[in-house]
Amino acid sequence: MRDLEYLNSLENLTGKTAVVTGGSQGIGLQTTILLGCLGATVYICALDGELDRAGVESAREEVSQHTARSGGSVHFHKLDLSSIESSRSSAHSLKKKISQNSADGDVGRLDIVVCNAAIAFSPQSILSPDGYERTFAVNCLGHFVFVTSLMDIIDSTARVYGDARITFTSSRGYTDAKKLDYKALTSPIPDDGTSLLHLKGAFQRYLDSKLAVLYLAKALDQDIWVKSSESIFVNVCHPGQVPNTALGEHQQPLVRPWLASMIKSTLRVFMKNTTRDAARTQVFLSASSQIREKKVHGEYWAPTWSRSQKYTGTGKEELSTALAKDEKEWQLLWNFCQDAVSKVP
Ligand SMILES: NC(=O)c1ccc[n+]([C@@H]2O[C@H](COP(=O)([O-])OP(=O)(O)OC[C@H]3O[C@@H](n4cnc5c(N)ncnc54)[C@H](OP(=O)(O)O)[C@@H]3O)[C@@H](O)[C@H]2O)c1
Repeated sequence: MRDLEYLNSLENLTGKTAVVTGGSQGIGLQTTILLGCLGATVYICALDGELDRAGVESAREEVSQHTARSGGSVHFHKLDLSSIESSRSSAHSLKKKISQNSADGDVGRLDIVVCNAAIAFSPQSILSPDGYERTFAVNCLGHFVFVTSLMDIIDSTARVYGDARITFTSSRGYTDAKKLDYKALTSPIPDDGTSLLHLKGAFQRYLDSKLAVLYLAKALDQDIWVKSSESIFVNVCHPGQVPNTALGEHQQPLVRPWLASMIKSTLRVFMKNTTRDAARTQVFLSASSQIREKKVHGEYWAPTWSRSQKYTGTGKEELSTALAKDEKEWQLLWNFCQDAVSKVP
């Protein structure tokens, strides 16, 4: 499916505000571009590194070329998901920014949040500033804090405009995750991550964090519907496998850069889909009228591919493991995150 055909199948987002965590690189960058091309005002929320700044510039350029008619724009907002305090304060300052930029000087609106940022392969000798395993802290706990701190503006947007979307980027790797061990999440393993032998554990932590993200989406969806905010549509997705992103590259390297690049080149022979293709599922969930019309929420989605590995669409999938479907586990994760946040007043 060509970009234009794909964009034409979605809603015009002119006047809407979107947030994409980790929106300056990889799948997140393409998500920013597609949402911007649909006319949204997009805030990239990420660390403020050199690559992030380059990503913002390239998103701005591509969106401005496309949106002479729709008026989409791209802004940057600093977010460090690794700490509870920084995730919370980033959400609060983002709300201020949105309000200051709003046409009527009101609180403004936040229609779309895509929780896309992630790290992988972090050693467990390094815990987050709050004392949690770092992959879990960034991928799940930081997003919990960020999204729940934005909930008032998302809720008011949904009430006024009848539609707000929150999409979590998980991974099909959730199927290989283990039952979350909350005690282990706070216990460092000395010297972990210092050799290739630790690769398996580091990979497992990434898979487990993606199961945690899935639980987070499920529990948030339940919480929202209990509170009868029936116009906030929370969904979770697998974007598709793309070997040429920076995922895992920013942590303490477990394999030498030349080996990582060789592995990625080999994978690229088999996986031909692009980061743009992988962005399409989360953009579909953020911008398709079907989600609102059919009141779709709390579902797991994945892309469908042609034989030549080109994106053909986005489809709902049943969760395939008992662990993922276990509602008690969703609640345990929610309670664990709430408890963690309550310790950082
Ligand atoms: N690539 C795949 O094959 C694949 C498959 C399944 C699922 N996914 C999921 O897709 C999403 C995007 O992955 P990707 O492959 O595009 O990875 P990527 O290129 O590494 O992008 C990850 C983004 O997260 C940001 N990030 C990392 N730590 C952060 C922090 N502490 N605070 C705020 N932002 C932070 C990164 O910014 P910095 O670089 O500045 O740190 C980067 O922009 C992830 O959720 C990943 O789990 C990917």
